[in-house]
Amino acid sequence: MKVPLLDLKAQYNSIKTDLDRALLAVVESQVFINGPVVEEFERAIAQYLNAKYAVGLSSGTDALVIALMALDIKPGDEVITTTYTFFATAGSIARLGAKPVFVDICHDTFNIDPTQIEAKISPKTKAIIPVHLFGQPADMDPILALAKKHGLAVIEDGAQAIGAKYKGQCACTFGQIGTLSFFPSKNLGGLGDGGMATTNSDELYNKLKMLRNHGAHPKYYHKIIGGNFRLDALQAAGLKVKLPYLDRWSEARRNNARFYDRAFSGSLVVTPVIHASNTSIYNQYCVRVEKRDELLAFLKEKGVGSEVYYPVPMHLQECFAYLGHGKGDFPIAEEAADHTCALPIYPELSQEQKEYVAATILSFYK
Ligand SMILES: Cc1ncc(COP(=O)(O)O)c(C=O)c1O
Repeated sequence: MKVPLLDLKAQYNSIKTDLDRALLAVVESQVFINGPVVEEFERAIAQYLNAKYAVGLSSGTDALVIALMALDIKPGDEVITTTYTFFATAGSIARLGAKPVFVDICHDTFNIDPTQIEAKISPKTKAIIPVHLFGQPADMDPILALAKKHGLAVIEDGAQAIGAKYKGQCACTFGQIGTLSFFPSKNLGGLGDGGMATTNSDELYNKLKMLRNHGAHPKYYHKIIGGNFRLDALQAAGLKVKLPYLDRWSEARRNNARFYDRAFSGSLVVTPVIHASNTSIYNQYCVRVEKRDELLAFLKEKGVGSEVYYPVPMHLQECFAYLGHGKGDFPIAEEAADHTCALPIYPELSQEQKEYVAATILSFYK
């Protein structure tokens, strides 16, 4: 049997008629940049998350860059974030000339350890970027309390966590700005790249809108330097069709997670821990295992898709060598990088496929 890590064709086939119609409508309108479809989608996302504003952007990476720009992060500033994340979180900080200051993660959730943040705050610190990794919110209360105490901004990297909840409230509505990605593998995935920034601040909303359009307001009058960070109307149209299905899809992922949790209980496979305060959307289902690399090879041979998120924490990336970190600086993240393995969790997985994945893994450890 073959079980890919993700099967986007299965999703497409389930909504093909509506999706094709919406895309064709944009083509027929010939309004590809900004316009009503983008605005409708922005309103729909703001409503879905219960945020005041949402600004459509070209990617989750650009959402982070523009969020930092909107908060006036400059060369020499320091921004605290987790060392265990997708590169874009740290890369965006460095691209603006600021210094990424890394913090280790909690062993159980893989999210930034709030108890280790305060020691990293210096007079140069301007912001904290918690990442809601794999679809589970970071522990926001202590992070927000620290930010308040030290006068820091909070940008939530919610690229993997659209619709995830912390104490009943959607991720990306706690900090000054939240960022989302619509990369095709996300729970709400586009037909290419796309992203969004959310905020409850009128001032930041206006600034984000200006910045995504070269800082212009009105057209051709540039108060600040921005860039082209816009979301295409074609992407917005496709995403707008998918949004009403998002909760159903995330629930299907949670069901799949429950199946794996049960299947692996009592085995050597350590299943993800979701805190009682959290509702995860399981963008990834990452288990912790011994002999991880041998398991990956075995799964490949048996036709089961798997992936390592992430093999190298940020502090050990070659491009960040100038920060002077070495092995052993963030041991929990380093341990995770050597032991995690993502399994197929996408909503359309059949019962037989799930059973095959679980049985294959359990047979490896027999
Ligand atoms: C945690 C995190 N941040 C940022 C990004 C960047 O998003 P994008 O690929 O849309 O640029 C991703 C995408 O994978 C991500 O997982």
